[in-house]
Amino acid sequence: MTFDRSIKIAPSILSADFANFGAECRAIEDQGCDWVHVDVMDGHFVPNITFGPQTCAALRPHIKTVMDVHLMISPTDQYLEAFANAGADIMTVHVEAGPHLDRSLQLIRSLGKKAGVALNPSTPEATIAYVLDRIDLVCVMTVNPGFGGQSFIKSQVEKVRRLRQMIGARPIHIEIDGGVTPETAPLVAAAGADVLVAGSAVFKGGSVSNPAAYGQNISAIRAAASVAATKC
Ligand code: DX5
Ligand code: ZN
Repeated sequence: MTFDRSIKIAPSILSADFANFGAECRAIEDQGCDWVHVDVMDGHFVPNITFGPQTCAALRPHIKTVMDVHLMISPTDQYLEAFANAGADIMTVHVEAGPHLDRSLQLIRSLGKKAGVALNPSTPEATIAYVLDRIDLVCVMTVNPGFGGQSFIKSQVEKVRRLRQMIGARPIHIEIDGGVTPETAPLVAAAGADVLVAGSAVFKGGSVSNPAAYGQNISAIRAAASVAATKC
């Protein structure tokens, strides 16, 4: 993976057909997405359960781009090796998931993976001030994690702006997760975000037998964000 700040669209397969993950991953990649975002939920850290490392391993052969694994689980450390072996390219843990964020991030890198850290909407950006040199990505949650289809929380735009300043010239992606649409994408792109996760806004109106809708949805988000990004 080479680093750049161009806009990247990462569909969340939380909004895909769960009985057809392989075909869904191939469809969104054929339709031009940049990364595939995989939401792992444990029914403890968040009030929903999705899937674990075995599903990630089964998905891996169907993903040619980047497998971006968002771990909404607590504790995290004891599962990191399994997700690494499942083929994750990026593993993102939550600041709120445990007391030893620095240790978790070191562990991810020691497994040869890119390390990401996610912040819930109520978590201030200062919580990652001392781990900036251990991360490749910061994920700003623009909804409370647990479910797709929620509304974008606008207060997070200012957090993105502040994180962009904190990051400076470091090669760290700013990812936005939750409620991203062609209407909200420009707000975060203008504030400095480069990776946009979108579940409902990518999968709406499409299916593996009508993948063109995915392509139109991806293009609409990318176009809206790219115009705003050039202005920041
Ligand atoms: C929320 C997940 C998101 C979510 C995004 O806990 O981390 O990735 O699926 O879904 P939308 O785009 O529908 O808000
Ligand atoms: Zn996510």
